[in-house]
Amino acid sequence: MQVQSDVSNAEEIVKNVGNTPLVRLNKLFEQKEIYAKIEWCNPSGSVKARPASWMLNEGEKDGNLVRDKTTVIEPTSGNTGVALSHFAKSLGYKIELAVPERMSDETKDILKTNGAKLLETEDDLCPRVGPGTDQAIALASALIKNHPGEYYSPDQYNNDANFRSHYHGTGPEIWKATNGKVGAFITGIGTGGTITGVGTYLKEKNPNIKIIAAEPQKDHNIQGLRNLEESEKPELLKRRMQVIDEKITVTDKESFDMIKQLVSTENLFAGPSTGSVLAALNKTIGELEGKIVLLFGDNAAKYKSIYSKFGVYSEEEFEKKLIESNNNCFTCTYSNDNPEDLCKLN
Ligand SMILES: Cc1ncc(COP(=O)(O)O)c(C=O)c1O
Repeated sequence: MQVQSDVSNAEEIVKNVGNTPLVRLNKLFEQKEIYAKIEWCNPSGSVKARPASWMLNEGEKDGNLVRDKTTVIEPTSGNTGVALSHFAKSLGYKIELAVPERMSDETKDILKTNGAKLLETEDDLCPRVGPGTDQAIALASALIKNHPGEYYSPDQYNNDANFRSHYHGTGPEIWKATNGKVGAFITGIGTGGTITGVGTYLKEKNPNIKIIAAEPQKDHNIQGLRNLEESEKPELLKRRMQVIDEKITVTDKESFDMIKQLVSTENLFAGPSTGSVLAALNKTIGELEGKIVLLFGDNAAKYKSIYSKFGVYSEEEFEKKLIESNNNCFTCTYSNDNPEDLCKLN
């Protein structure tokens, strides 16, 4: 069956991704200059728009992804699937996603609305990459092996296009928007694409910039992030691990508490990984200098059931905060000349 497309190739999509706002957090940590890179302003609503668009683009350029022939397949715990299915729909590709059944219902609904076929597994929230430990990865690999030529897997855990999307995009954007005055960068690790891409770029500019990983506790509930003690390191991360200066472990409670503080002080309503990044900042702020940049990977929109399950906000409170925070933006206007500019809802 032929699927309709409204974009001619993935290169067009890459051009519309990134250049997200860098917003000064004025109230939460008054004593230091803290900035948030608001990645939910990307098309499809998260940081994963960057690797997803780059991996599709390079797949097309290398001839591995062909219109009306190839189906995209990927093991993913959420945002990569949302981004890939969002772009696959615009490009007219069929897509199958191997996902952990624990992922939030809202995320599953978005994936289905984007036309993805879901292959559910009993995995952890962030697929483990060690041999024999992960069903989603094994399932996707088996399908590819048994149907040669039919599938293209972007393979975010291995694909250097994931790294390149941050090395050529997120990193330079942060350098430019801070006028090179960035002293530290804090983000979580899923595949390691963000931390190694941004970290490598920034350290090439200034090797003294501190690159810090926020790591959720073992058996955590922070969608998209990984605890490196309970899960093997993805190949992509292993290739450039040396750019990470420090790894700060944070609990689910610390992360969720920071989500509430962020809403009440800055009126930004973020997803769980942002809470982990803020909790890691809390533990390191005393030793950091210069402009400190935090990666805010996605907003709260997909996490009503998770926040209600863990007592962060009741469903009623959640709806209220979502409207009040007004930050459910998927398109933003932003000028690199004015990094204090808030994300504007179009
Ligand atoms: C929601 C979310 N998912 C995933 C990641 C990790 O991304 P990566 O796969 O590049 O390590 C982050 C980074 O903070 C994030 O916020």
